[in-house]
Amino acid sequence: MRALVVYESLWGNTESIARAVARQLEQRMTVVITDSEGAPASIDGIDLLVVGAPTHAFSMSRPATRADAVERHGAPRTVTRGIREWLAALPRMSSAVPAATFDTRADSPRLPGSAARAARHRLRALRFDVSDGAVSFWVDGYAGPLIDGELERAAEWAAALVASAERSARVTRS
Ligand SMILES: Cc1cc2nc3c(=O)[nH]c(=O)nc-3n(C[C@H](O)[C@H](O)[C@H](O)COP(=O)(O)O)c2cc1C
Repeated sequence: MRALVVYESLWGNTESIARAVARQLEQRMTVVITDSEGAPASIDGIDLLVVGAPTHAFSMSRPATRADAVERHGAPRTVTRGIREWLAALPRMSSAVPAATFDTRADSPRLPGSAARAARHRLRALRFDVSDGAVSFWVDGYAGPLIDGELERAAEWAAALVASAERSARVTRS
């Protein structure tokens, strides 16, 4: 089975979660991990898609929030094509490939709104199977680091995704 993990990350927190997820998936699947700038234009031959993004202004980042991150908050990376733009260009699926989403968010104060939920909404419209849901991982402030235990929680979440993708593949084959 093959998995694709696509992430966007300005400080590296979302990337760290994505790498923890990929490491866990690799125990049972062939995994390609890439940032959104390098992500493929279509999802052919993939059994599981995992998408991770930082929450900006209650949702997926936009060019203006990414500029704000760099100019006002000192983010070390610029991102031209984020998850929002990548998903906007992705074609509709002909079969319901499993897809799961995660985001990173500021731990304090905890605000409503989630990039993972917004990305899941878009993936559902593209006819992915999004029944695995959307999950948030918490960071300290805007820059991070991740709150203690989040990398372990990401690995547990990824193990559950593998089990779910394997069930889904068995149903599709039978
Ligand atoms: C412009 C901007 C807006 C943000 N808005 C939110 C928000 O609405 N809710 C939240 O929980 N965190 C918010 N954050 C914090 C980000 O979620 C945090 O910077 C991100 O998780 C760090 O991930 P990264 O290291 O992968 O970039 C915002 C950060 C920036 C720079």
